[in-house]
Amino acid sequence: MKTTRVTPDSLQAMKREGQRFAALTAYDYTSAQMVDAAGVPFILVGDTLGMVVQGESSTLPVTLDHVIYHARAVNRGTTQSLVIADMPFMTYHVSVEDAMRNAGRLMQEAGVGGVKIEGGAEIAPTVERLVQAGIPVCGHLGYTPQSTHTLGGPRVQGRSIEAATKLIADAEALEAAGAFAVVLELVPASVAEEVTRRLTIPTIGIGAGPACDGEIQVFHDLFGFYTDFKPRHTKRYLNVAEQIAAAASRYRQDVAQRAFPGPEQTSDLKPEVRDELFEYLHGPSRRTAHG
Ligand code: KIV
Repeated sequence: MKTTRVTPDSLQAMKREGQRFAALTAYDYTSAQMVDAAGVPFILVGDTLGMVVQGESSTLPVTLDHVIYHARAVNRGTTQSLVIADMPFMTYHVSVEDAMRNAGRLMQEAGVGGVKIEGGAEIAPTVERLVQAGIPVCGHLGYTPQSTHTLGGPRVQGRSIEAATKLIADAEALEAAGAFAVVLELVPASVAEEVTRRLTIPTIGIGAGPACDGEIQVFHDLFGFYTDFKPRHTKRYLNVAEQIAAAASRYRQDVAQRAFPGPEQTSDLKPEVRDELFEYLHGPSRRTAHG
């Protein structure tokens, strides 16, 4: 049976029907298969891959080629989820033409269903052009990791009346420009609730409280792969790093003690062929276990 893929329109229909949805990041074929099979409708190939895959301290070193590489693999692992790729730092800031070219590469070379870009009213003209060219765009407001140096690190944004009203206006500008959804990262819950009420497109929260239409989390945070730190907004559904470390240690001991590989993991020659080979190699005097 052919499965149909989630689209930006279907996410908007979920908002209209009051159906809250989960979103997750993925960076490779295998994890994308798991997330897709779990029925998570929205997969983001986030530039968080800089931290959780590449071991960098921010998203800034991630390049367009990196995202294309990972997004191609994620796309191949999915049949149902909508796959959106992050446009990395400086791939949409220089000019609208540059943004068009780079978003076009993500769509053509990685085969994703759309892109995500960070920023508010100032990038609305870029969003508009991308959407006009047939590229679905997801916005990203609040704490925008590509601006970590100007924001002073991962901090809750929109705390003052001025900052909250700017955030609301930015969200409205993104919707007016044609964005199909907006991620709200590290935003006070009541501000996220107000944005969610005002927009017809879905809000997708991360550290933005329970009122958003969807929730997004980083795969490596949620399942305990990434242990450098645990953001407050995440919940560990698994502790995979601990389980893998314990299993790797058992494997190391089994190999050292010759307990692995055993007969179940081993194939060998038929005994008579082995005997013939040994006789050929070492002469008839050499006796084998077989005779
Ligand atoms: O890059 C990313 O993974 C993200 C999510 C945290 C929303 O932007």
